[in-house]
Amino acid sequence: MPRSKIAGIGMYVPENVVTNFDLTKYMDTSDEWIQERTGIKERRYAHRTEETTTTMGVEAAKIAIERAGITPQDIDFIVFATLSPDYYFPGCGVLVQRAMKMKEIGALDVRNQCSGFVYALSVADQFIRTGTYKNILVIGAEKHSFGLDFSTRGRNVSVIFGDGAGAVVLQPTEKDNQGILSTHLHSDGESAEILAMYNPGTHANHWADKNYANFDEAEMGEMFFSHAMIDNAQVFPNMDGPSVFKKAIIKFPEVIIEALHTNGYQSSDIDLLIPHQANLRISQFVQQKLHLTDRQVYNNIQHYGNTTAASIPIALCEAWQQGKIKEGNLVCLAAFGSGFTWASALLKW
Ligand code: UT7
Repeated sequence: MPRSKIAGIGMYVPENVVTNFDLTKYMDTSDEWIQERTGIKERRYAHRTEETTTTMGVEAAKIAIERAGITPQDIDFIVFATLSPDYYFPGCGVLVQRAMKMKEIGALDVRNQCSGFVYALSVADQFIRTGTYKNILVIGAEKHSFGLDFSTRGRNVSVIFGDGAGAVVLQPTEKDNQGILSTHLHSDGESAEILAMYNPGTHANHWADKNYANFDEAEMGEMFFSHAMIDNAQVFPNMDGPSVFKKAIIKFPEVIIEALHTNGYQSSDIDLLIPHQANLRISQFVQQKLHLTDRQVYNNIQHYGNTTAASIPIALCEAWQQGKIKEGNLVCLAAFGSGFTWASALLKW
């Protein structure tokens, strides 16, 4: 059975750089607080009307496809991971198919937030292994800046997130020492409300016994979408940050070790770990826990913030462009986030 390899990789970030100082114009926050708690110095925000999650994904995809030495017409399946789609439905995958004038291929959207890209990669990997498809485009993209609460009320969430996109083309490889070795996917829905955007949705307060971050159940609203939701700022993401942090620092190392042990490796064998860029403090904790050196871990949250489904492909692309990933290197991708869902992928470049 063939493995899948990353045959081409690309990234796109908007031009507009937004510093921590810029954010202090809108909310009660400081560069010091943001850097100390998250490591973030700046992030990119998409052009409000000229860029969408899909258009950024397409820009990253163009590069990945060119680097794979193929054309958009050669792509035979699309997997698009995002939590900030252009439309509530249909998904971004079909918009990519249209924008890139691809054949009438399958297009699947994955909604697994921070671990979305690893989930998407895993889905694509199965189709390659079974021989179903030969050129799969996997995209992770987000336009967070369009949907954040920029008042002081939303500061614990809004200072963290940034916009951007990353993409890879997966192809089969018969080489022994190359490709995705394994992927590992997990979830625990018990904490679904701890990091979530509740509205618009069909919940109608059904999950009233759950602990909603930043809201009590009475405030939630019983409509799919209503004026009251807008008036009460119920249309933004909510997060109980410390609870997410505590779980993340347990699950990140766990799922990385699971990937290593499945393939007979230990953490010292990793050439490069690309953790989902949620918080520099989380990455540093994971690094310490696994006894990894600075050279073994790649972080770029300082410049892009948390770009959710885009963070891993952007970091992977940047690391590769900087010559930090070479043929035969053991690369581990790992993510944790809303759901909770968490996942890892171990690959030989
Ligand atoms: O990728 C998705 C997964 N998400 C994550 O992995 C996020 C995990 N969590 C975190 O990264 C951290 O919890 C945060 C960075 C979100 C927050 O850092 P923290 O050290 O956990 O702070 P906190 O939420 O406990 O808040 C501490 C204080 C509070 O004030 P009081 O109650 O102590 O007076 C907050 O109101 O900091 C305040 N605060 C802020 N102050 C200035 C919260 N956000 C801000 C802000 N600027 N942006």
